[in-house]
Amino acid sequence: MLGAFGENMDKVARKRWMLGCPIGLISAILLIWFLTLGEQARMPPPAKFDLTEGSDLYQGYCADCHGAELEGQPDWQSPGTDDVFPAPPHDETGHTWHHSDATLFDYTKWGGAETLARQGVDFASGMPGFGDDLTDDQIRNILAFIKSTWPQEKQNAQARRSAKDTEASGL
Ligand code: HEC
Repeated sequence: MLGAFGENMDKVARKRWMLGCPIGLISAILLIWFLTLGEQARMPPPAKFDLTEGSDLYQGYCADCHGAELEGQPDWQSPGTDDVFPAPPHDETGHTWHHSDATLFDYTKWGGAETLARQGVDFASGMPGFGDDLTDDQIRNILAFIKSTWPQEKQNAQARRSAKDTEASGL
């Protein structure tokens, strides 16, 4: 009698365990999914950047070449008769989002030729430097504005590129 009762309890416990296990697993997966969702929702540009100033400065200093809608110059992928490349778009169709924050900042502050010369590359770049006209914070606000126009997945890819760059520089 007692033995049969004990055996029954055993079966119930086993059933519970088998049921509890997948439920625990599913809850864990749901929790992780929920947490990563929250992480993505927190990704939009941090408030420390002034996107309105960035947008205004972009129109004043960059739009002449890179386009009011960040569309770049026509045929930007082929060099002109002077062998200098036209200005590329800064929207998601260009390659700005392939570069790390450090590269974008240097390119804007020092210009293309100077930035590449520092890396040992001799290149006739049509991108002037703005270090004399814009403060570092103004440059960061312009770049933050440019980035804010990209879809989230491009922003994430560019953030990963920047993190790799920082890692490689040992900072
Ligand atoms: C006189 C035209 C001109 C102006 C004004 C100008 N650019 Fe450029 N920019 C270029 C050209 C041309 C290139 C391509 C350079 C190259 O091939 O090295 C470029 C390239 C760049 C790049 C690197 C390439 C890339 O992948 O996007 C960045 C970043 C950039 N510009 C930012 C800016 C910002 C920010 C401003 C405004 C503060 C600005 N530029 C204003 C002509 C210009």
